[in-house]
Amino acid sequence: MITSIDLDQDFTQFIQRLKSKTEIDLALYKEGQMRRRLNSLKEKRGFRSFLDFFQAMIKNPELFDDFLDRMLINVSEFFRNPKRWEVLEKQVIPGILARNGRIKCWSAACSTGEEPYSLVMALSSFLNLREIQVLATDIDQNAIEKAKGGKYQAQSVKDLPKPYLNKFFAVRDQQYVISDEVKRCVNSNVIIYWPTRSNNTSI
Ligand SMILES: C[S@@+](CC[C@H](N)C(=O)[O-])C[C@H]1O[C@@H](n2cnc3c(N)ncnc32)[C@H](O)[C@@H]1O
Repeated sequence: MITSIDLDQDFTQFIQRLKSKTEIDLALYKEGQMRRRLNSLKEKRGFRSFLDFFQAMIKNPELFDDFLDRMLINVSEFFRNPKRWEVLEKQVIPGILARNGRIKCWSAACSTGEEPYSLVMALSSFLNLREIQVLATDIDQNAIEKAKGGKYQAQSVKDLPKPYLNKFFAVRDQQYVISDEVKRCVNSNVIIYWPTRSNNTSI
């Protein structure tokens, strides 16, 4: 009989092995939600335990890609959670500039770019674009590629203040394309090298 203790151990060992092999630390994520997401992928692919799933994943880059797609949630929008951005624009940015005269920004899980580009636009109310540099990193290479492309659907810009939309975007083929002058302010990088199907290596 498989007990809930066995299931816990199975998932705990999965987390440990994944960390030592890839440096992804699932212990830092909300356990219930992450476990449900990965459990459904494991079952869909026909594995009985997380350890079996892990063994298969390290031999099969395609499965590893599926795992990444399931665990990395790329949801993002311009000025997502507008109330937070209001605090940033009214208190945080002016406060830092008053104290230091300059500001360094890092969008540490930048996803497809909406957050670092929003930061550039918010900063442009205080600084010349030439003075703005935002570092943007993510562990998802596909997300970084989209960020570099700078093309977005209407849903992504729904909370973007209209003056920024008019000033920094062009509409082409029903997509919102961010201007090169904003793009130049963002230095985007993959923070960890992921061996995925696209570069055809094993983990
Ligand atoms: C929900 S999105 C948030 C994007 C943006 N920060 C925002 O709030 O709109 C989460 C992003 O975190 C990235 N991520 C998840 N775990 C990460 C980690 N350990 N280090 C860096 N980025 C990570 C994912 O790839 C994904 O792009």
